[in-house]
Amino acid sequence: MTGSLPFEISGKTRIMFILADPVAHIRGSVVLTRELRALGHDIAVLPLHVKPADLERTVQAIRAFHNLVGFGITIPHKIAVVSLIDELLPQAKLVGSVNFVRRNPDGALTGDNLDGIGFVDGAKQSGIDFIGKRVLQLGAGGAGRSIAFSLAAAGAKALGIANRTESRASELAAAVHRAYPACQAFVAPAKAAGYDAIVNTTALGMQADDPLPVDPSGLSPEMSVSEIIMSPEITPLLRAAQLAGCRISLGKSMLEHQVKRLEQLLAL
Ligand SMILES: NC(=O)c1ccc[n+]([C@@H]2O[C@H](COP(=O)([O-])OP(=O)(O)OC[C@H]3O[C@@H](n4cnc5c(N)ncnc54)[C@H](OP(=O)(O)O)[C@@H]3O)[C@@H](O)[C@H]2O)c1
Repeated sequence: MTGSLPFEISGKTRIMFILADPVAHIRGSVVLTRELRALGHDIAVLPLHVKPADLERTVQAIRAFHNLVGFGITIPHKIAVVSLIDELLPQAKLVGSVNFVRRNPDGALTGDNLDGIGFVDGAKQSGIDFIGKRVLQLGAGGAGRSIAFSLAAAGAKALGIANRTESRASELAAAVHRAYPACQAFVAPAKAAGYDAIVNTTALGMQADDPLPVDPSGLSPEMSVSEIIMSPEITPLLRAAQLAGCRISLGKSMLEHQVKRLEQLLAL
């Protein structure tokens, strides 16, 4: 038995959904509700279990929900939703996936991808910036795609991408260099030497028996190490980075800063 909500959901409360399949593990609704309410908004965020075959009619129905400000989208819908909405903001177009959608007053839907900017904002708050830096990004999955474009937009001069599936790294590197020609983006081995900043966007570190995504013997105190995994808060990579004397940033700050950008997207 859990306690009652610390706030009331009334007819004045604005609603957001998070569309996902499966849905039982979703915690983002708790974080988003808490952070948006802390910013003074009477909003409740509710996970919705939507199967891929039902995504299109769900998105169509949402257009008619007048107290819905928007919705978040997570696995497996982030790419599929792109063709179902009316407008894509520039980062969503570059990345090819959407993680938040605004429902405009006329029911039109505008999508953005806030993963990358949330990551860069969060790192900045931890004293890490990427202007003129050589960055090694580990991983080229969904979140990694958005982060790579945002690292280039944030001024990284070189971006090495190491990924288990190399074809994904080379496709991403080429796309980032096309969009941001000033950033040299290339496929790289997962070796830290020679970089100013290491960014882990792989899922390695979530499970206790995961190998480290990069050999920690290559870390040195002048490097920064950033993580996007939220649980555990201090991953083995971050622990190794702390031991090596590196500046670090935590996965939770990426989500916290997405909330601030979400406030702008939803025009709250
Ligand atoms: N902090 C936040 O706000 C935030 C937001 C989104 C996601 N996340 C977290 O970020 C992580 C990645 O999420 P995602 O949505 O990007 O997932 P994803 O699309 O499935 O990508 C997973 C990435 O990890 C790599 N990977 C997975 N297992 C691996 C293994 N055993 N060995 C080597 N590489 C492996 C994948 O490589 P391949 O390409 O070879 O499969 C890929 O690069 C998750 O922990 C997620 O919870 C955090």
